[in-house]
Amino acid sequence: MIKKTINFTSDKVIIREVKDGEKDKVAEVIEKIFDSWHSYYAVLALKRTKVFIAEKKGRMVGFLEAYVTEIRGHRCGVIYYVGVLKEYRRTGIASQMVLKAEDYFKRRRANFSLASTTIDNIASRKLFKKLGYYEYVLDFFNDYDIVVKMSAYEDDVLLIKALSGKVSIKAFLYQEL
Ligand SMILES: CC(C)(COP(=O)(O)OP(=O)(O)OC[C@H]1O[C@@H](n2cnc3c(N)ncnc32)[C@H](O)[C@@H]1OP(=O)(O)O)[C@@H](O)C(=O)NCCC(=O)NCCS
Repeated sequence: MIKKTINFTSDKVIIREVKDGEKDKVAEVIEKIFDSWHSYYAVLALKRTKVFIAEKKGRMVGFLEAYVTEIRGHRCGVIYYVGVLKEYRRTGIASQMVLKAEDYFKRRRANFSLASTTIDNIASRKLFKKLGYYEYVLDFFNDYDIVVKMSAYEDDVLLIKALSGKVSIKAFLYQEL
């Protein structure tokens, strides 16, 4: 008989969807990563987003919240919050979670993957740029529709990646014909 065992000693990071009953644990991780303002919104969003978590040696070490919405006539995947516990950063965990979210967006037939951040969040900007995202400075007036759909009221930078060869980022952003 083959016995299935969970290997708690493996260094491998597992990225998976959160299970029912695990959201309190995700909230604890969120509160370790973000200040009280962002924690409030990230915890609230656990109810209405697709949540992925990263696990290492059986410990929850990161999370990502995503949803799909329509923006400017396109189905778009939005990465709402992503975070990794300090001691586990720079080992590729956020990158793996973002790629997992992109797979989910593709399954949901989204044309673009979007994230937003503040100009001073160098780690976040570099993470997305390394994964092939195009960086764009949001214009609060011209891009208010995007800001609202992403609840990105605090952010000034948009990161966007095309998930299909049939769409153009420039046409989407600058609304060129
Ligand atoms: C942003 C964040 C999620 C990145 O998580 P991570 O697991 O460390 O990211 P990765 O290891 O996948 O990094 C991928 C690339 O991003 C860039 N990067 C990540 N952190 C960086 C930092 N502190 N400084 C510079 N570049 C950084 C690097 O190019 C890195 O590749 P490299 O390590 O090979 O050089 C993490 O720093 C974090 O949780 N920050 C606090 C929460 C936050 O600001 N979230 C984003 C806004 S919602």
